[in-house]
Amino acid sequence: MDNKHNTFLKVIKDVRCLPTIPGTIVKILSLVGDNKTSFKEISKLISSDQTLSARILRLANSPFYGFPGQVATISTAMVMLGTKTIKGLVLTSMIFEMIDKNSLGLWEHALGTATAANIISKHLKVAKAEETATAALLHDIGRVILKTKLGDQYENLLSGVKNKEISLKEAEREVLEVDHAEIGGWAARAWGLPETLCEPIACHHDVEKSGTYRTETAVIHVADILIRTSGFGNTGNYFIPPIHPEAWNILDLSAPLIEEITETLEHKLVEVAAFSQEIQSAENPHS
Ligand SMILES: [Fe+2]
Ligand SMILES: [Fe+2]
Repeated sequence: MDNKHNTFLKVIKDVRCLPTIPGTIVKILSLVGDNKTSFKEISKLISSDQTLSARILRLANSPFYGFPGQVATISTAMVMLGTKTIKGLVLTSMIFEMIDKNSLGLWEHALGTATAANIISKHLKVAKAEETATAALLHDIGRVILKTKLGDQYENLLSGVKNKEISLKEAEREVLEVDHAEIGGWAARAWGLPETLCEPIACHHDVEKSGTYRTETAVIHVADILIRTSGFGNTGNYFIPPIHPEAWNILDLSAPLIEEITETLEHKLVEVAAFSQEIQSAENPHS
């Protein structure tokens, strides 16, 4: 590895430069994990942060959860959606904290992948569907981190290999010797997120490397490929690899099932696109 690679790796792996999770979010996440904490206490804490409450309400009313326009308060959101989903929403709000305006395409990709993961989980009756949707929202967090850390250099570095028939992960490995899935998994573990999220984030392009959360990882892998194939959100024009054979096996997929899922997804994406527009104008009222 030459000096340039060494410098990049140092920058990427410097924990001091890792985006921090805001204090309120850390507190809420620990409270949600504790069964003894009352709904009242959690909703009080969320409500004390205006930006966070606004974002959570917006997401709770999104097409994913089936109650569009019906969730008016944080306590209603907690009762209607449950604490696991709220925890997912708090984490999602964390993405908003980190994403700059230039990464909106990545945010749409995250929303699209979560939508696809939800549809796949429903079709296959997967347990832990809420956690899988959250992991789907966060699956490309490594791309956000690489963009934040390397700035324009990230795109510049990759532009040289863009036209080769290789995937984004392969391009990253070629120029950085590390890829966004590895960085994402590493960051998720550094933040102390549960393994239900860390493993699928780290293995979403290499399903065969997953262990305990094979089903969740396979769902996110398939969701990611379906959403990129659909052209929704920022795909970065990289070569889209076919679904990994391991994912076909784990989920017992068939061509007709994929077709059925794709059809449901296409209908849902129309709603998601409108929701994403709404969120973007609410986040950037003057742009
Ligand atoms: Fe990815
Ligand atoms: Fe992705």
